[in-house]
Amino acid sequence: MIATLDINVQKAERSKLLSTSLEEMPFGKYFTDHMLEADYEDGEWKNIEIKPYQPLLLDPSTAAIHYGQSIFEGLKAYKDDNGNVSIFRPYDNYKRFNVSAERMQMPSIPEEIFMEGMRRLVELDKNWIPHQEDHALYIRPFMFATDAVLGVKPSDKYKFMIILSPTGPYYNKPMRIYVEEKYVRAAPGGIGYAKAAGNYGASMHATAEAKKIGYDQVLWTDAFEHKYVQEIGTMNVFFIIGNAAFTPDLTSGTILSGVTRESAMTLLKEMGFDVIERQISVDDLIDAHRANMLYEVFGTGTAATISSIRELRYKDYVIEFDVEKWRTAPELKKRLDEIRSGKVADRFGWMYKV
Ligand SMILES: Cc1ncc(COP(=O)(O)O)c(C=O)c1O
Repeated sequence: MIATLDINVQKAERSKLLSTSLEEMPFGKYFTDHMLEADYEDGEWKNIEIKPYQPLLLDPSTAAIHYGQSIFEGLKAYKDDNGNVSIFRPYDNYKRFNVSAERMQMPSIPEEIFMEGMRRLVELDKNWIPHQEDHALYIRPFMFATDAVLGVKPSDKYKFMIILSPTGPYYNKPMRIYVEEKYVRAAPGGIGYAKAAGNYGASMHATAEAKKIGYDQVLWTDAFEHKYVQEIGTMNVFFIIGNAAFTPDLTSGTILSGVTRESAMTLLKEMGFDVIERQISVDDLIDAHRANMLYEVFGTGTAATISSIRELRYKDYVIEFDVEKWRTAPELKKRLDEIRSGKVADRFGWMYKV
């Protein structure tokens, strides 16, 4: 079925790559020569096209702009030393995309459009993949409602697109994190587990407030008591306490099920840690810190990879770390990087060859 997917390909006349350097790329600022577009109309996906990267022409009443039926994904393609291109765990992002679609009352995307469309697009623009440490080709699939009519109801029409951005690191130094206890990201029954655009819009005010007092991001806590920790910005969070790695469990539906989180859990087990998913309260963290058992705190995410946290602040209680002395987060990042860059065997079957 995948081989027969009918994609209309229109190539760019001239590559922008001739005037772009792939060295020291910022995150998400540059885009490749092509994009993929497909339309959902009359209950089916049609008009699947790869074409030159270009602006969209939208009716001002486009439903996604007003009512927020808009979801996305984020994943990365890497090039090994021999120039072979692979995408990291794309099926996981594909499955999560459709989980988000279902929650937002949007149509699911067929596997062949998501996977084969992405493969063909990445293959076409593979010269854009940077070959430098902490750099990769960021892949952004997204879908939004395109009905041109006002009124709160699920749209009848949608657009699915994929764009590609050669990128460097998202956070390039250890972070200072403020434990949030006023604003809320997600509550049980809400959309926290979906990669819905509105989750990010809703998070910006709290993050801006934290930035005013010198913090990079907030660590969200539960909506009712502000007692249990959830996640940070666009990252899941891990705490190394003694010989165990703790991360919040996903049962309340308030946390995005990160592909990097899942990969980190596998690698931490391989490194000999007990990996424990459970509710983690701020008090648990403070107790562990007072007992000198809270060794490391880091975030995991596609954009951020593994990001060390050098300070965690809860009310007036400040936990500071000497990240230079850490062993676990750097080792975890090294193991992940080695698999992604093809330096070691893909022992978990994570790399999808383009
Ligand atoms: C809210 C949120 N949490 C966690 C993550 C990490 O998920 P992943 O590792 O799949 O990138 C992301 C990024 O996608 C995110 O946006």
